[in-house]
Amino acid sequence: MSAGVEVRVEGLSKSFGRSVIWSDVTLTLPPGEVSVLLGPSGTGKSVFLKSLIGLLKPEKGSIFIHDTDLVRCNEHRLYEIRKLFGVLFQDGALFGSMNLYDNIAFPLREHTKKPEAEIRDIVMEKMTMVGLAGDEGKLPGEISGGMRKRAGLARALVLDPEIILFDEPDSGLDPVRTAYLNQLIVDLNAQTDSTFLIVTHDINTAQTLPDNIGLLYRRHLAMFGPREVLLTSEEPVVAQFLNGRRQGPIGMSEEKDSEQAQREMAEMDGELAGLPPLKPQLDPSPGVGERKAVARRMQRVMDMMHTLPPAAQHAIQAGMSRQGFPAAPGGQSRHGLRADDTPTQQFPGR
Ligand SMILES: Nc1ncnc2c1ncn2[C@@H]1O[C@H](COP(=O)(O)OP(=O)(O)OP(=O)(O)O)[C@@H](O)[C@H]1O
Ligand SMILES: [Mg+2]
Repeated sequence: MSAGVEVRVEGLSKSFGRSVIWSDVTLTLPPGEVSVLLGPSGTGKSVFLKSLIGLLKPEKGSIFIHDTDLVRCNEHRLYEIRKLFGVLFQDGALFGSMNLYDNIAFPLREHTKKPEAEIRDIVMEKMTMVGLAGDEGKLPGEISGGMRKRAGLARALVLDPEIILFDEPDSGLDPVRTAYLNQLIVDLNAQTDSTFLIVTHDINTAQTLPDNIGLLYRRHLAMFGPREVLLTSEEPVVAQFLNGRRQGPIGMSEEKDSEQAQREMAEMDGELAGLPPLKPQLDPSPGVGERKAVARRMQRVMDMMHTLPPAAQHAIQAGMSRQGFPAAPGGQSRHGLRADDTPTQQFPGR
């Protein structure tokens, strides 16, 4: 099975005409880890995913995969690199005139020389995996939105991708199917060690699925790092987002003017600071095996521990002892740092 690859984004900026969508986005998707991208509607999450696979061209910055800069490489190399990706677009992007079987077989027929018998095995395996066995002959127009979503997922997985991008895989799914989907993602990750980036608006997904969370906000990547950093952040925008509140810096059509946001926060009188309790991360199903990324991430997070805010450090240590790793004694990191040595989180645009 293929192992995940690192995706390194450096100083990426994207505009359409004179409107800047986001600028100076820098992040690394660690190999084999699951990352989630959050952000208010319209902040450019889908544009970011499309940029990662070279469908949209950012004006500035680089995207490095296997030492190739996707922003600058030639068409042939881009085509090769794209084969590493499995992508679920926000709208599913199924071909309306093809039945589900042919839709899901499409990447195999397009990119491989596999015989039809082998294609059949792969398609049936993926369709069973997403609960669509028996629906092979249906057209996308004849099935529910949630089924289209799952068909899109099956199609994204047929080439055994090393990098998996899902744009709101859980939108349009009921809570039970969302729970199954999240478990499926964890199990897939354990089986393949692929690198995941998932855009979601589902707070429960953000709390339980990823190793890392990023937040796009005010045309910047406001945060990207271990999940515990965002999930324990007292930033008003994070608290508003995680609690799904109307009061806070995020408005209906765009970001509110800061005066109104300040007024609302004063009216809430400190209540905005409250965060939902941290939930444990999902484990793979029994029998699936361990996620290889867990040990790698542990090392990575330990190395950056001293740069993280105290609340995040405590949450990481609590999570480590739950997973059976020895936690550092007395709330201190292995590096002997005290909590008050840590720098506070920087939020661009505040
Ligand atoms: N091809 C395009 N040409 C011009 N503008 C575009 C194009 N694609 C996206 N945009 C604009 O970029 C902005 C970000 O869009 P995007 O779809 O990435 O938002 P999003 O964060 O995914 O939102 P949502 O959560 O609602 O899916 C929007 O203002 C959108 O109108
Ligand atoms: Mg989108």
